[in-house]
Amino acid sequence: MGRGKFLMLVALAVVVVLGAYAVLEKKEAVTETPPKLAEGADDGSGESEGEVSGQTPQEPGGETGGTPVSGEAPETSATDKPSGGEATTPPTTDKPSGGEATAPPATGKPGSADGGQAGISKGEDGAIAVIGKPESVEALVNPFNMLPDDYEPSDLVYPDVRFIFKEKIEKRMMREEAAEALEKLFAGAEKDNIYLAGVSAYRSHKTQKALFDRYVKRDGYEKARTYSALPGTSEHETGLAVDVTSSDGKCAAADCFGDTKEADWLKKHAADYGFIIRYPEGKQDITGYQYEPWHLRYVGEEVAGEIAANGSTLEEYYNAVPVSGTK
Ligand code: DAL
Ligand code: ZN
Repeated sequence: MGRGKFLMLVALAVVVVLGAYAVLEKKEAVTETPPKLAEGADDGSGESEGEVSGQTPQEPGGETGGTPVSGEAPETSATDKPSGGEATTPPTTDKPSGGEATAPPATGKPGSADGGQAGISKGEDGAIAVIGKPESVEALVNPFNMLPDDYEPSDLVYPDVRFIFKEKIEKRMMREEAAEALEKLFAGAEKDNIYLAGVSAYRSHKTQKALFDRYVKRDGYEKARTYSALPGTSEHETGLAVDVTSSDGKCAAADCFGDTKEADWLKKHAADYGFIIRYPEGKQDITGYQYEPWHLRYVGEEVAGEIAANGSTLEEYYNAVPVSGTK
């Protein structure tokens, strides 16, 4: 073979080898393994309140349903309807038998002369009170103060704000007054270049039952109670609570939300719109729950302003019995 032909063959071989390499590299990029979802994120199998791998137990990221908005973090649940027929965890032993321990009328703060606000504290005998005015936006709902079993808010609407899922489903709803306030809060945040997204708002009693039961099956009753409310005692059943996160959805119902600029903004401004960070840091013995920087509760501007100014809680506002000892 002449020198010219030999050189041509070598050049051809180089081109073939380089071409094959390029094809392989492209394929590798396409078949790259998708990032593993954190435990507790939506894997399509169901909702996930609760523990995210490596973190302390979490608030519900959302009990049910919802397709993640494109480009945002996965929603933490799968179907909008709770699975029917699941056994519900028995109530705690101090739960009153139906209708007993009904709270006095909501006419003032508990302990005041006129007999108590919308939410009433656990009695001396340790019984859980069924609150007298569940429809009050100031109602105290906590492990010692429960909603009537058949309570359903009558004015649920869809707030016109971004959520981390697309569907118009139960957990997107809030009571009208709270929904309007949330719209104002989101708009106010955007003026400060803070972009929030809803994660989970209203839950029916049935949904909370199914959700709590699911956590009991997963983590056991005692652990489930540290991060999820017993049916009837969740603020989400009032239509006045909403879990929020940043618009990228990355820290939905996870501890890392507490370190975001969005959480910082909420701490400073939520009260201006009538919301409180319901489970503040360091108040677990009073509220019964660990720090949930994402859980907002609408109580109206006056109450929210007072609570924020004092760095206190709804329990303290009402001089209610601290919820320590339930966990
Ligand atoms: N995670 C809060 C306490 C709830 O379940 O309502
Ligand atoms: Zn919540």
